[in-house]
Amino acid sequence: MTFQNALANVVSNAQTLRDAARTKDAKVLSSLLGPALRGFVLQSARGATQTTLPVAGTAQFRWKYEEDQPDFRKLYRAAKRSQWDAESALDWSIEVDPFDPERPLLADEWVPFEQLGAWKKMTSREKVEHVRDYIAWVLSQFLHGEQGALFAACEVTQAVPWYEGKLYGATQVVDEARHLEVFHRYLSTKLERHYAIDDNLYVVIDAIVSDPRFDVKFLGMQIMVEGLALGAFGTYRSTTREPLLKELLKLVITDEARHVHYGVLALAEHVKTLSASERKEREDYAFELALLMRNRFLAHEFFEEHFAHVMSRREWDRFALTAPLMQHFRRTMFQRIVPNLKRIGLLSDRVRPYYAELGLLEFEHGKAAPELTAGDLLAGT
Ligand SMILES: [Fe+2]
Ligand SMILES: [Fe+2]
Repeated sequence: MTFQNALANVVSNAQTLRDAARTKDAKVLSSLLGPALRGFVLQSARGATQTTLPVAGTAQFRWKYEEDQPDFRKLYRAAKRSQWDAESALDWSIEVDPFDPERPLLADEWVPFEQLGAWKKMTSREKVEHVRDYIAWVLSQFLHGEQGALFAACEVTQAVPWYEGKLYGATQVVDEARHLEVFHRYLSTKLERHYAIDDNLYVVIDAIVSDPRFDVKFLGMQIMVEGLALGAFGTYRSTTREPLLKELLKLVITDEARHVHYGVLALAEHVKTLSASERKEREDYAFELALLMRNRFLAHEFFEEHFAHVMSRREWDRFALTAPLMQHFRRTMFQRIVPNLKRIGLLSDRVRPYYAELGLLEFEHGKAAPELTAGDLLAGT
């Protein structure tokens, strides 16, 4: 990459970088600096077939195999009983036709582009093509996020200090593999297109993998990324009319509910043992990730393909941040995160104004794991 290209990437991500410095927490910023450099400036994953990252962390062996965590044991049992085979649990013979008006990928009332001038000039066929590509972009980000979740689950399994937590973690590894399988298969065989990983999502995943502290990995993946994914899966499940995608998301949501449950159980105990400064750092870290993930849903890769010739990226960002449906999507995605942060003790009075500024504090009274069940998550979707 040339210096000019690197500079251009810094300029085009200036707002995100400013956002990422919101809490002014030096420790958090230094832990995000390397991932931000690789994601925003060097764009390590753009156009690449692979990215190799050094993994930081520890493996903790338990030689006594203590059976002293009944909550994890219960979750492990539930996970074993709830396994499903991606090949047979879904009817892959369903033909997905984005042009079928009876089964649109996104119901008309949920298509967020109505207020764009360029959209109004499109034919109805072009509009359907754009919706198909937008859904392919969203599902591609789910797929890339699932790969990050697979690796994080492997790392957390070896790092947690509880024998029964490790047994549970192994089931999550299999769950995430299955999620990769279903999203990849749907994109490849039904929509026949893939999008590259979004720069913001890359930074989040890179930060989680390269942080050596298991509780920070836990917080980043199980609470923030998985919590956001839960909200997103539920949102798209309730707004698609395509039966295979609906069923696929239902099965994935059922697994993800356990993953977030595990994260909340583990962290609620662990956070109590942290010093005041360690807790403050986790609070700031969670908020910085929330900001990065909020920016993740600006769909820049989709914009570059379909709208960059008719509007600037700044105009697109303004649209994506203010259009009512886009705002609605974004907010519903965060509704699962905020109650869980509160439950584990990371929504202090010091950081509450940050979330209030983003309009996310109203979710703090929502149900948190473990009371929030898969049944709750699927109700209304
Ligand atoms: Fe997953
Ligand atoms: Fe997960």
